[in-house]
Amino acid sequence: MGPVKFRNRASVRRGERPLARLLCAACVSLVIIFPVPVALAVPTHLDSTKLKQGCRACHKGHGQKGTMLLTKTRDDLCFDCHGTKAGNRAGDIYSVVTKKSNHPVIQTSRFHVSGEVLPDDYALRQRHASCFDCHNVHISEKGKAMKGLTGYRGNHVKVKQATYEYEVCFKCHADSSNAPVDVSQDFDVSNVSFHPVESFGKSTLVPSLRHGRFSAGSLITCSDCHGNDDRSGPKGPHGSIYAPILKFQYDNDLGPESPERYKLCYECHDRTSILSDQSFKAHKSHIIYNRISCSQCHSAHGSRTNPFLISFGSTFVFPNSRGELLFTAGTPGTPKCLLTCHVNGLLYEHKLNAKLLYCVNSKCPPNW
Ligand code: HEC
Ligand code: HEC
Ligand code: HEC
Ligand code: HEC
Ligand code: HEC
Ligand code: HEC
Ligand code: HEC
Repeated sequence: MGPVKFRNRASVRRGERPLARLLCAACVSLVIIFPVPVALAVPTHLDSTKLKQGCRACHKGHGQKGTMLLTKTRDDLCFDCHGTKAGNRAGDIYSVVTKKSNHPVIQTSRFHVSGEVLPDDYALRQRHASCFDCHNVHISEKGKAMKGLTGYRGNHVKVKQATYEYEVCFKCHADSSNAPVDVSQDFDVSNVSFHPVESFGKSTLVPSLRHGRFSAGSLITCSDCHGNDDRSGPKGPHGSIYAPILKFQYDNDLGPESPERYKLCYECHDRTSILSDQSFKAHKSHIIYNRISCSQCHSAHGSRTNPFLISFGSTFVFPNSRGELLFTAGTPGTPKCLLTCHVNGLLYEHKLNAKLLYCVNSKCPPNW
């Protein structure tokens, strides 16, 4: 019994493959409409209309010692066209990687070895980020800057061709022996909550999502948040005035709420919805009156143990007098946080009283 049928009966009879025929037909019609074979996109750096010198733009007879016959070592090669030189129209990356927060390309690209295996399995090896780690210049195309790279999904799964951007990032930001933090743990699909980078999120209710742009079925990328603060400059997580390489401002310390201060979140989450307590019934009081940053309650990546990306900061939040420091979700909007918060010179103890009512400094909000 073969229930799966790929061919229609007529073509099986004639021994043809309809899919192949369809593709051929598509090709023929493309050639008729476009005399130039546009179906085969030419990689930018091998396109003679863009780089007249061809291979010689980057390679020469003998080349620099220890490189793939490159005319210059390291990133200097790229900065010839992607630098500050007057007349360069390929995008000035030099001025971006020298911003306050950056990928340390200039400092560490000399540690890149052609053909190296990532993630790194040797804890003492110097970490690095070179242009070639994130771009294969023989293959990349306009709008497909990361085409032609290998990838890593975390959990020991390597891929020959990265399909998603995060697979390139995880070559250095997952369980590399020399990585300072394993970011792949934050996004693991077995976590209780996570921003939907690897897979669709597990949220039940996100009323603040700016509809039309993002929905509960959306995937987002690392570079939706990590990128150039200059919206008219080159795209990509090369550098930013906001650390760690954030596209928009996002302050961690206490301070007055404003559209700018948490702009990173407000790009996708409607400010009015958050500040009118559409979900959490005490967003406004914490954010506006107590001037607490989102980052004291939420992780921007994900949480292994809590829903709603809840992950308390360590500067202001401590265990309560019972030694409890935990989040328990209740009726939507009225969760119970058992902890002590030390802000603006005051202590706010959150705990259950003798009657098991949820109270903050002995004041118990009704209906909570
Ligand atoms: C925009 C610059 C640039 C151009 C143009 C360019 N290459 Fe390369 N090529 C590089 C860089 C950079 C490397 C080293 C990559 C690394 O270290 O990971 C490289 C490496 C190579 C290698 C070593 C194997 C590999 O893929 O790493 C070969 C072979 C090669 N290039 C051939 C060519 C040929 C042939 C052309 C012309 C059709 C060409 N390149 C055009 C920059 C360029
Ligand atoms: C001889 C000049 C030249 C050199 C050298 C050069 N590029 Fe480019 N690059 C260009 C041009 C031109 C574009 C296309 C700009 C556009 O479309 O507006 C480009 C585009 C790109 C893009 C965007 C994606 C794409 O493929 O269109 C990336 C990424 C890039 N270059 C990386 C590099 C890296 C990494 C190096 C160093 C190995 C390098 N380039 C060296 C001229 C150069
Ligand atoms: C070849 C290795 C490599 C790849 C690939 C890579 N990075 Fe990095 N990244 C680094 C290094 C090295 C640093 C400097 C700090 C460190 O050692 O982690 C860094 C720093 C960062 C920082 C700043 C962290 C801080 O604490 O200031 C962010 C954010 C970041 N990378 C995001 C990304 C994203 C997003 C991608 C994928 C588009 C990516 N990285 C791909 C090597 C890499
Ligand atoms: C590029 C868009 C984007 C940005 C920027 C963004 N978010 Fe989200 N966020 C989403 C999407 C999409 C979801 C829905 C995920 C789902 O379906 O589970 C979400 C969900 C959430 C949730 C609910 C998660 C759950 O499991 O219930 C919280 C909390 C959250 N985001 C907080 C933040 C904070 C804090 C910031 C700023 C640091 C931020 N977001 C920035 C797109 C974004
Ligand atoms: C005092 C802790 C705290 C602070 C500060 C805080 N949140 Fe929340 N947030 C929560 C809790 C708790 C929930 C879940 C409430 C529930 O439904 O049970 C939540 C839910 C959310 C959600 C998911 C539901 C929705 O509204 O779409 C988003 C998004 C969110 N917060 C964004 C933010 C942003 C952006 C900021 C900063 C401007 C912020 N939060 C500040 C505690 C906080
Ligand atoms: C919704 C926005 C958002 C997305 C999506 C996102 N990040 Fe981040 N990332 C942040 C913020 C904000 C911080 C600063 C820490 C904080 O405040 O929670 C950060 C911190 C980092 C750091 C510094 C180390 C650390 O954990 O503090 C690295 C490295 C990093 N992110 C890499 C990545 C990579 C790789 C991806 C994609 C797999 C990614 N980020 C996706 C917002 C984001
Ligand atoms: C950590 C990874 C990483 C490193 C290192 C890196 N890039 Fe990129 N770059 C990216 C990503 C991701 C994008 C694409 C962003 C997008 O399309 O949204 C990009 C985009 C670009 C673009 C196209 C910009 C645009 O506006 O379309 C150029 C040009 C470029 N990179 C050149 C370089 C050069 C030159 C270097 C070395 C000095 C370099 N990159 C280093 C990740 C990286």
